[in-house]
Amino acid sequence: MLTSVLLLASLCVAAFARLECKVPHLGGGRDDGPAISAAFQRCAKNGKVVLDQYYSVDSLLLITGLDDVEIVLSGTLQYTPDIAKWSPQSLFLTYQNASTAWFLSGNNILLHGGGTLDANGQVWYDAFASSNDAGTAGGSSTTFERPVPLTVGNSTNVVIEDITQLNSPFWNNFVYQSTNVTYRNITINSVSYSSSPASNTDGWDIYRSNNVTITDSRINNDDDCVSFKPNSTNIVFAGETDIVANVTVFNISMNNAQNGARIKVFGGSPDPNSTAGGGSGFVKNVTYSDFQGKPYAIVSADSLVSNVDNPITVDQCYSTPVETCAEFPSTLTISDVHFINVTGTSSGAEQNVVVDIECSAECTDITATGTHIEPPSGSPEFVCVNVTSVNELDFNCTAPPS
Ligand SMILES: *[C@@H]1O[C@H](CO)[C@@H](O)[C@H](O)[C@H]1NC(C)=O
Ligand SMILES: *[C@@H]1O[C@H](CO)[C@@H](O)[C@H](O)[C@H]1NC(C)=O
Ligand SMILES: *[C@@H]1O[C@H](CO)[C@@H](O)[C@H](O)[C@H]1NC(C)=O
Ligand SMILES: *[C@@H]1O[C@H](CO)[C@@H](O)[C@H](O)[C@H]1NC(C)=O
Ligand SMILES: *[C@@H]1O[C@H](CO)[C@@H](O)[C@H](O)[C@H]1NC(C)=O
Ligand SMILES: *[C@@H]1O[C@H](CO)[C@@H](O)[C@H](O)[C@H]1NC(C)=O
Ligand SMILES: *[C@@H]1O[C@H](CO)[C@@H](O)[C@H](O)[C@H]1NC(C)=O
Ligand SMILES: *[C@@H]1O[C@H](CO)[C@@H](O)[C@H](O)[C@H]1NC(C)=O
Ligand SMILES: *[C@@H]1O[C@H](CO)[C@@H](O)[C@H](O)[C@H]1NC(C)=O
Ligand SMILES: *[C@@H]1O[C@H](CO)[C@@H](O)[C@H](O)[C@H]1NC(C)=O
Ligand SMILES: *[C@@H]1O[C@H](CO)[C@@H](O)[C@H](O)[C@H]1NC(C)=O
Ligand SMILES: *[C@@H]1O[C@H](CO)[C@@H](O)[C@H](O)[C@H]1NC(C)=O
Repeated sequence: MLTSVLLLASLCVAAFARLECKVPHLGGGRDDGPAISAAFQRCAKNGKVVLDQYYSVDSLLLITGLDDVEIVLSGTLQYTPDIAKWSPQSLFLTYQNASTAWFLSGNNILLHGGGTLDANGQVWYDAFASSNDAGTAGGSSTTFERPVPLTVGNSTNVVIEDITQLNSPFWNNFVYQSTNVTYRNITINSVSYSSSPASNTDGWDIYRSNNVTITDSRINNDDDCVSFKPNSTNIVFAGETDIVANVTVFNISMNNAQNGARIKVFGGSPDPNSTAGGGSGFVKNVTYSDFQGKPYAIVSADSLVSNVDNPITVDQCYSTPVETCAEFPSTLTISDVHFINVTGTSSGAEQNVVVDIECSAECTDITATGTHIEPPSGSPEFVCVNVTSVNELDFNCTAPPS
């Protein structure tokens, strides 16, 4: 009797224990990529993949079909700084010609562990600065494609937390065709040590996704913090509708960046000359709160200012001539966007403009409360074009666009 109870108990433990796949590292600069991919394959269902060593990764991580998988990244996963190798092998994702080094896909995924994803961006920053190349797949065939270090793609119910991301060659994170994705306590540092800027190192780019939450994170980079660029593929498919909805971003600090809370949408031209724009769809229910333009990690004299070029910006005529937007206003509507407690200082790159909301068709229900953003000197200016809810902004729109 006692034996059978014990037996039952141990069977239950076995049934609920996750299959664990601990990845050894090879060392000596050899490629740990294949062992990591193999571990994901073995532990793809109800598994736990443990990455607790230093891994040098020189091959694409195309990790799909995960179902209820915990990934413990407590070590460091570092991509090799090998432009000739990564450019052709990174996975092309069509949207904005982006490609990725790690496509993580499945349902119920938790990636955490306090470790580091180091993308070795410096060689990419230097190469990008000295070339005229777009540095993306379509623009340069396969010789110079800056990969996104981590893409959550075709996924549902994903949590990524307590991870540090260093020196991304391009956007740090891409949320691609996914639903219910949460990033929490992420530290992003993409900083160039040469005179070449760390270009295009957005914190997050979000495409065709719903219910994405980004919270308690810190970003030090040279481009957007979070960017929603729904209709910006250069591939023109008629009748396609793009949607970005239900996004919440809160408690984020950033410094030395180009754009804080930003939404950009191409103009509405159906013109065949245009490489983007013209689609329909909507950006809806996006909330940004507590964007403190505070310095966080790097302690130096000039990190006392937050130095963000465009703390709040909505541009519904992105990369489209003004006349074209006037003739063909964007048919992608922007509504229900809320800026709460966005504070800090701008860099002065846009003179005194700290808020710039320009809609080529009317934007509705855009609200702002608790806004306190100062330019380096003088009074702040707030540009608003075609915003129907100016009464719900806690600043007076002071300037027409230049
Ligand atoms: C993508 O690459 C194509 C082909 O080179 C190029 O024409 C297009 O402008 C690129 N699109 C973007 C958004 O970079
Ligand atoms: C993502 O899903 C789309 C279909 O929705 C599919 O065409 C594409 O191949 C998937 N991407 C990857 C890398 O699995
Ligand atoms: C969203 O994802 C979280 C974390 O994985 C999960 O707890 C929650 O149940 C998911 N929500 C839905 C509606 O599936
Ligand atoms: C955030 O993540 C770091 C590791 O990157 C960890 O040391 C720290 O304890 C985490 N903070 C919280 C509040 O969980
Ligand atoms: C949306 O995200 C929140 C926060 O992660 C989660 O609790 C909720 O279940 C998600 N809902 C859906 C429908 O995915
Ligand atoms: C964006 O604009 C194009 C060009 O007009 C449009 O046909 C398409 O439906 C929209 N969506 C995507 C994904 O490009
Ligand atoms: C807006 O999005 C949040 C998640 O970010 C969700 O909880 C809320 O229900 C959404 N509101 C509407 C009106 O869709
Ligand atoms: C946004 O969230 C609300 C509330 O959960 C939901 O009703 C709505 O369908 C979501 N929007 C989209 C586009 O999924
Ligand atoms: C498209 O480009 C051609 C050649 O540059 C130009 O003649 C034409 O006016 C353009 N069409 C539009 C609608 O701008
Ligand atoms: C905004 O700031 C006010 C005053 O500090 C605070 O009471 C409120 O809770 C904050 N709102 C959010 C959404 O963080
Ligand atoms: C404002 O939006 C309307 C359409 O809603 C458009 O006709 C007009 O050109 C827009 N004005 C500007 C200055 O973009
Ligand atoms: C906006 O302008 C009105 C009228 O000049 C003034 O009474 C109000 O205090 C201003 N509001 C802010 C937030 O500056």
